[in-house]
Amino acid sequence: MNILVIGSGGREHALVWKIAQSRHADTIYCAPGNAGIAGIAECIPISATDIKSLYNFALEKEIGLTVVGPEAPLVLGIVDTFRKGGLRIFGPLSFAAQLEGSKAFSKHIMLKYGIPTAAACVFTDQKKAVDYIRENGVPIVVKADGLAAGKGVMVCLTEDEAVTAVNMIMSERLFGEAGAQVVIEECLEGDEASFLVFSDGNTIIPMPPSQDHKRAMDNDCGPNTGGMGAYSPVPVIDREMQERIMKEVMLPAVNALKAEGCPYEGILYAGIMLTSDGPKVLEFNCRFGDPEAQPILMRLQSDILDIINAVVDRKLESVEIEWSEKASVCVVMAAGGYPDKYSTGQSINGLDDFANISDIMVFHAGTKFDGGNIVTAGGRVLGVTAIGADLKIAIDKAYEGVNMIRFNGMQYRKDIGRKAIKE
Ligand code: AMP
Ligand code: GLY
Repeated sequence: MNILVIGSGGREHALVWKIAQSRHADTIYCAPGNAGIAGIAECIPISATDIKSLYNFALEKEIGLTVVGPEAPLVLGIVDTFRKGGLRIFGPLSFAAQLEGSKAFSKHIMLKYGIPTAAACVFTDQKKAVDYIRENGVPIVVKADGLAAGKGVMVCLTEDEAVTAVNMIMSERLFGEAGAQVVIEECLEGDEASFLVFSDGNTIIPMPPSQDHKRAMDNDCGPNTGGMGAYSPVPVIDREMQERIMKEVMLPAVNALKAEGCPYEGILYAGIMLTSDGPKVLEFNCRFGDPEAQPILMRLQSDILDIINAVVDRKLESVEIEWSEKASVCVVMAAGGYPDKYSTGQSINGLDDFANISDIMVFHAGTKFDGGNIVTAGGRVLGVTAIGADLKIAIDKAYEGVNMIRFNGMQYRKDIGRKAIKE
């Protein structure tokens, strides 16, 4: 069948790469894609949020399955539109996607259904938000309610910082309408992990846990980013903890959406803090993580379209998923200055040298063609992802790959996965 993948990041390159290995895939299109994806799929210049044009394209090209990478089209209702028109698409309906689209909605669901999370209050009134901060003291976490490209969360160590965060979100509208409400919550401590499941609304199957590195600089310093690297497996999540997260978080969340009348189909991603009180949810996302998808998909041995088709056809109970026992590590190479202002259009050198290396994949994110050259076109530029017998070997290989690539101003973290080895 013909497949349409929506998005343009490293996550989508990894998805297209995996889908291209499927026995079910004929022509693969990607909207809008990037220079790396263009090597294995036909890239279409339609924005990921232009739902009407995507729908018309899917009809015209007889697309048998659409796979949505990023959250924005899901929250905007792409699944609702495609389904109404009789087209098969992988992802949650817009109501269920609010688990990511609104932190207030997500908090409300967690409280209503007893899913462990940080204590929190939601405010539409800035003065009340500031009073709450003054009463509760620090550390405290301030979050814009809506989508903010992974940048709408501020962990504040002083009251003034928290008040400034509220002001930036609510008055200055740094994240636009996402700042109409703020969620202010208790600061949790512990190790973080990303826990993802496939869900068809009834059955859920976990993926191996992974860990992202959200801060821009080594030793978790600097501002939050979309993610600077990830690895899988995560040694701090053993089988017992995995079962606990399934029982206390993932199953109750999927059952909650069913009880609310909107069964959750697609990928459900919980950002978990492993506190001394047990696992607690930091956030839900309604899609694959980026960069987490890159190491996770390197470890996937089953045909990905067998799984996705089973979700869309609500037959996930009939599927067994095989994962490699090996470890995988993704190091993100970003443009200098990211997540703040950065330059684009820098020539990227060294990409051709990977053709014969099977255990390192260079997934593209912000790249495009400029004449015959591949140049930078975004904040996160590449995800150099390696697989190896254990985490240490995978880390060394990923950095071997990083050292083969050059572009002006490039920045990357040098400590991806190091924490896991110390543990
Ligand atoms: P989120 O987008 O909600 O995952 O938040 C981004 C990052 O902020 C998380 O990966 C955590 O490192 C941090 N964070 C979010 N909520 C909390 C919290 N309640 N306590 C401590 N850190 C948090
Ligand atoms: N890497 C974090 C996210 O995908 O939201």
